Amino acid sequence: MITLTMSAAYSHEPVLLEESIKALLIQRGGRYIDCTVNGGGHAAAILEESSPGGQLLGIDADPEAIKVAKERFRSFGSNAILVNENFRYLENICNRYGFRPVHGIIFDLGMSSLQLEASGRGFSFQQDAPLDMRFSPRQSLTAADIVNTYSEQELAGLLQRYGEEHRGKQIARRIVERRPLRSTLELSRVVEEAVGGRRGKIHPATKTFQALRIVVNEELESLQLALEQALNLLGSGGRVVVISFHSLEDRLVKEFLRRESQGCLCPPSVPVCVCGHKPNLKIVTKKAVRPSRSEIQANPRSRSAKMRVGERI
Ligand SMILES: C[S@@+](CC[C@H](N)C(=O)[O-])C[C@H]1O[C@@H](n2cnc3c(N)ncnc32)[C@H](O)[C@@H]1O
Repeated sequence: MITLTMSAAYSHEPVLLEESIKALLIQRGGRYIDCTVNGGGHAAAILEESSPGGQLLGIDADPEAIKVAKERFRSFGSNAILVNENFRYLENICNRYGFRPVHGIIFDLGMSSLQLEASGRGFSFQQDAPLDMRFSPRQSLTAADIVNTYSEQELAGLLQRYGEEHRGKQIARRIVERRPLRSTLELSRVVEEAVGGRRGKIHPATKTFQALRIVVNEELESLQLALEQALNLLGSGGRVVVISFHSLEDRLVKEFLRRESQGCLCPPSVPVCVCGHKPNLKIVTKKAVRPSRSEIQANPRSRSAKMRVGERI
């Protein structure tokens, strides 16, 4: 059983902690990357399990999160390197620190409880804040730019594609009628109006907020790029562990593992292989691993989590 000492100021509960740490097959003195280190829930367990001598490279796009992690892991000195960057530059970051090959890489996607609750970030439809939603202040596009400048058609398309929102057209029409929209509560009210009020447990703005966050942070593109680079960084037998929170991410991870576990990728109509693709990974999780009932009870945010694992051949 992994127990973590957490700073009182930091209250993000790491999801699938036990399962993900087990999946990483942590070795003493091993070298690991946490691509979404945030306050360091998973990272703390990695450092604990790999000590003495384990090394961690922790990455996060959010400078506030990196500040918290640096403070938390100060006592590990140069064994804990913390970098405020987007994980889409994973290989570049590793080259800069001479941090390769590695024994394991973990992604725990999305946002932390702190980011969701911190006022001013605009991730939550339950707290009033400017429509921002950027993980990093260095990014330029905000959620306000999207809702106030995209055409009705573009808005409907992104709500359908990234929110899997079947009422995307209705919501887009109402956004365009009501804009400019400046705050999260204004937007969530407009979505409620568009769909005719609240029904059921899920807030009607959930999918709209998900879609905007994905577009603002180019989340799917970044994940695809980072997974491809992860392959080049893992030593033989090294593992990549991905915890995702919505079906678009999970589909991308599943497809990546499937493709990279295969040999030739030529279409069946090509008689002799011309692609030369070789299997790079073995799939460890035939089915996605879900949190236990007791974890979901203790931490309802974990309910949509799915973990998939691949092992470098
Ligand atoms: C769910 S939290 C991670 C929590 C952490 N595993 C823990 O237990 O404390 C996800 C983190 O990933 C970061 N993040 C999301 N996309 C990112 C990206 N493309 N590059 C770097 N960090 C990213 C967010 O800023 C956030 O801090």
